[in-house]
Amino acid sequence: MPAYDLLRPLLFRLDAETSHNLVMGGLGFASRHPSLLARIERRFASTATGLPVEAMGLRFPNPVGLAAGLDKNAAAGPALAALGFGFVELGTVTPEPQPGNPRPRMFRLPADRAIINRMGFNSRGVDVFLHNLRRLRPRCITGINIGKNAATAMEHALDDYRIALRAVYDDADYVTVNISSPNTRDLRTLQEAGGLGRLLAGIRRCRFELQDQTGRHVPIAVKIAPDLDAEGIEVIARASVHYGLDAVIATNTTVSRPGSLAPRHAGEKGGLSGAPLTAMSTQVVATLVRALDGALPVIAAGGIMSGADAAAKMDAGATLVQLYTGLIYRGPELVREAVEATGAHS
Ligand SMILES: Cc1cc2nc3c(=O)[nH]c(=O)nc-3n(C[C@H](O)[C@H](O)[C@H](O)COP(=O)(O)O)c2cc1C
Repeated sequence: MPAYDLLRPLLFRLDAETSHNLVMGGLGFASRHPSLLARIERRFASTATGLPVEAMGLRFPNPVGLAAGLDKNAAAGPALAALGFGFVELGTVTPEPQPGNPRPRMFRLPADRAIINRMGFNSRGVDVFLHNLRRLRPRCITGINIGKNAATAMEHALDDYRIALRAVYDDADYVTVNISSPNTRDLRTLQEAGGLGRLLAGIRRCRFELQDQTGRHVPIAVKIAPDLDAEGIEVIARASVHYGLDAVIATNTTVSRPGSLAPRHAGEKGGLSGAPLTAMSTQVVATLVRALDGALPVIAAGGIMSGADAAAKMDAGATLVQLYTGLIYRGPELVREAVEATGAHS
């Protein structure tokens, strides 16, 4: 029996954020101890053989990544990478430290294999993030997901993204501009045509400066919500190509609540992830892939709870996939399953 089958019932007896902190503490500890790390790697990474993928100018050993939000402070990257992921996305990191929303702010919906969270970008800030990352660098492609501080007015959002982009540029294999968290007030308005154009134009200028200074082209992706209609998706596709982005990540959590959810916690405010999001986010991926028409790759996230779900995202046209909630419900076995299913998919 895989070890996670034994661990999960214990973890699920604790409040969701408490078990998250325990597991992250353990993975952080393992990240700092090479012998433990080697054991995790032997157990997981070496058994997973996957489909290598070229995207954003990078070569991924397999297309299965860790989605943003699990390791917001870059405290456990090496152990997470050792679970067999082809890439990990760390963050969301904000320029300044901030506590996020009051607890409780993360809820399990076990009957639905789902989570609702309203963490609100709890972040130790970009300085601590980089200090951690430089000590604990994952041995795989590492994306850094950036966001704005809650205290920064929306009209100054671009300033925050620029501060974060400049700070992380040297340390990132790619950067994700997160404009789709439902838990930072009005953040998602940055997905609308006017705000999006201004933001992406500013990011493009900033990246040109950074490219000149460093001689390095760091790919930039934008991460979008599943709650957009087809027209909204097309606006983002056009802008992403126009402003020279390298990929679009679809999707973040949803603010919608399917009527089928079991009532306990279904009314909590925040973003819903996991199984109830699977089909909805695959639909967004399919629409986005059509709108982009091959111009940019799509990284699919949202309700990957099995190898078949990962393969379905690739069938919808995704180049890479990411998962988070499935890891909570299935443990690292899911990574292996998704790597195998997407490998067989080729
Ligand atoms: C507790 C929690 C925190 C998250 N935090 C972030 C975050 O900081 N930044 C981000 O871009 N996405 C965040 N996400 C969204 C995930 O990266 C992912 O896009 C979403 O959960 C859908 O995938 P999943 O169903 O596999 O979880 C978070 C998700 C959860 C469950």
